[in-house]
Amino acid sequence: MRRALPVAARHATGTTHFGFRDVPLDAKQSLVGGVFARVASRYDVMNDLMSAGTHRAWKSSFVNALAPVAGMKVLDCAGGTGDIAFRVLRAAPGTTVTVCDISREMLDVGRKRARDAGVSEDVLRFVEGNAENLPFGDESFDAYTISFGMRNVPRPDVAVDEALRILKPGGRFLMLEFAEVRNEAVKRLYDAYSFGVIPAIGEAVAGDRDSYQYLVESIRKFPKQEEFLQIMNSAGLRSTSVTDYSFGIAACYSGFKPAITRTVQASPPPTNSETTST
Ligand SMILES: C[S@@+](CC[C@H](N)C(=O)[O-])C[C@H]1O[C@@H](n2cnc3c(N)ncnc32)[C@H](O)[C@@H]1O
Repeated sequence: MRRALPVAARHATGTTHFGFRDVPLDAKQSLVGGVFARVASRYDVMNDLMSAGTHRAWKSSFVNALAPVAGMKVLDCAGGTGDIAFRVLRAAPGTTVTVCDISREMLDVGRKRARDAGVSEDVLRFVEGNAENLPFGDESFDAYTISFGMRNVPRPDVAVDEALRILKPGGRFLMLEFAEVRNEAVKRLYDAYSFGVIPAIGEAVAGDRDSYQYLVESIRKFPKQEEFLQIMNSAGLRSTSVTDYSFGIAACYSGFKPAITRTVQASPPPTNSETTST
C-alpha cells in the first residue's frame, strides 16, 4: 500500500514551490499559514467575488459526488471556514463532520459560522491539525474530503498517505482542486482573468495583492489531473477517477481505500489421529 521509498527519500531535494518561487520544503507551511491568517476574515466573500459564485456550484457537485448518508463520519481536511462541512450536513442530516485545518484564523471563522447557524459541536467539530500528520487514529473515518486545500500542503503525497491511514477499509477519498484547463479558448481567457484581475481584486477588497498572486501561481504549479491520479494510485487508492468541472478549471478526484481482503486460512495441520504415514 505504501510506496517503496521512505518520505525522506521522496523529498530528497528539500525544496518545493510557493507560487512561482522555489522555497525550502520546511518554509512553505509557514508562508501558506501567513496567507490564510491574512485572508481568513474575508475568505468567504473573496471566493464569491473571484469566482462569481462558481465555487458554490463546484462545491455542491463535489458534495453530490460524495453522496453522504446518515451515520457517515467525514473528515474535511484543510476545511477552513467549513464550506464543505455545512454542505455535507445539509445534504445528509445525521452525518458527523470534523473540519481539520492548520490555520487557527480560518477555523475561528468556521466556528463562528457554526455558532451563528446553531450547528452543534456533536455534529460539527473544528480541529487544528496538519494534513501531513493528522491528529486522528487509524481507520476512524468513512470519508476524507479536501477542497482547494491539497495545493497548499507542502507534501501532497504524504497527505494522501495520511488520508489512507485515517480512512476505514472501503472508505472514500474525494478531492476538489484547481486543475489544468483542457480547452484552449477557455484557458486563454482564464489565464488573462487570473493574472490580470484576481490579484487586483485582492488588493482592492482585502488590501492584499500578494496572497492572491500566490493563489493564481499555486494553481499553475499543482500536479495536473493525470499526475495527481498517479499520486493517488501509488499511495494505494483504488477505483480512482477524475471529473473536470468547468473545462478543468477545477476537478474532482475520487478513490477508495481497499476493503479488507479476507485471507483464506490454510487447513489446520492434521491431528495425530488423522495423521497417516506410508
Ligand atoms: C483555499 S483554503 C480551502 C478552504 C476550504 N476547504 C474551502 O474549500 O473553502 C485552503 C486551506 O488549506 C489550509 N491548509 C494549508 N496547509 C494545510 C495543512 N498542511 N494541513 C491542513 N490544512 C492546511 C489553509 O489553512 C486553508 O484553510
